[in-house]
Amino acid sequence: MSSPDPGMSVPTLDAAQCRFVAATWAFRASAERAAALRFERLEQALRAAQAPQTVIALVQRAVIDERRHVGLCDGLAARFGWAAPALPPTPHGPIGPAGGSESERLLYEVVSSCCVSETLNACMLRAILDRAEAPEIRDTVRSILGDEVHHARLGWLYLEHARAQGQGASLGPLLPRILRGVGVEAIDTPDLPGRDAETLAAWGELDRSSRLAIFHAAMRDVVLPGLERVEVPTQAARSWIAEQSMGLDPFGLSVS
Ligand SMILES: [Fe+2]
Ligand SMILES: [Fe+2]
Repeated sequence: MSSPDPGMSVPTLDAAQCRFVAATWAFRASAERAAALRFERLEQALRAAQAPQTVIALVQRAVIDERRHVGLCDGLAARFGWAAPALPPTPHGPIGPAGGSESERLLYEVVSSCCVSETLNACMLRAILDRAEAPEIRDTVRSILGDEVHHARLGWLYLEHARAQGQGASLGPLLPRILRGVGVEAIDTPDLPGRDAETLAAWGELDRSSRLAIFHAAMRDVVLPGLERVEVPTQAARSWIAEQSMGLDPFGLSVS
């Protein structure tokens, strides 16, 4: 397996680093497959719930976007040497708490997948774009990022609508469950020994400390204030994040 052409200034990847980058994009493709399937289902549910037309338009667009992202991510995985079959979609079935009403379960899923997951995803992609030097990584990330911002907006618009209808009163205590469900703990996974953070960063990889800093900043500056703006209490989420410790003072000034 040969390294992709690194261009003039991008550090060259060795074979192990190539496999690492390939696996990142193969996994991202599997998450994009799941997102496409989830949005297909959410489109039907949001129509049935008579969501605002802006939300319906955004979810229709999201289905098309996520299918496009699958192709982009599969393409990058192959470019870096991924030769195994495509990874299957990550779990994408309904996730609302059992016992909740249909509307509360739908709101839970939209908050989880859009307000939290898509917002974090957009923040991670923006950080990758800030650091990556490899043109093919930058082009793909820029293209995907523009769409993920709209998918997050879908969630915030629907949450605002649902709160105005009197829904979501029980969301606050459920926020730790939502954070666990979107895989926040995986952000804190230790880096593989011997990885060269500087070289891999040039190819769009985020190391553990970068992921943690981005996560905490996104929660502090975007997700938690967004929830509070529509009067969803965030104390349970803040306590859960603090309990994880995750290597940083989550709401202190040390996180930028
Ligand atoms: Fe996507
Ligand atoms: Fe998305």
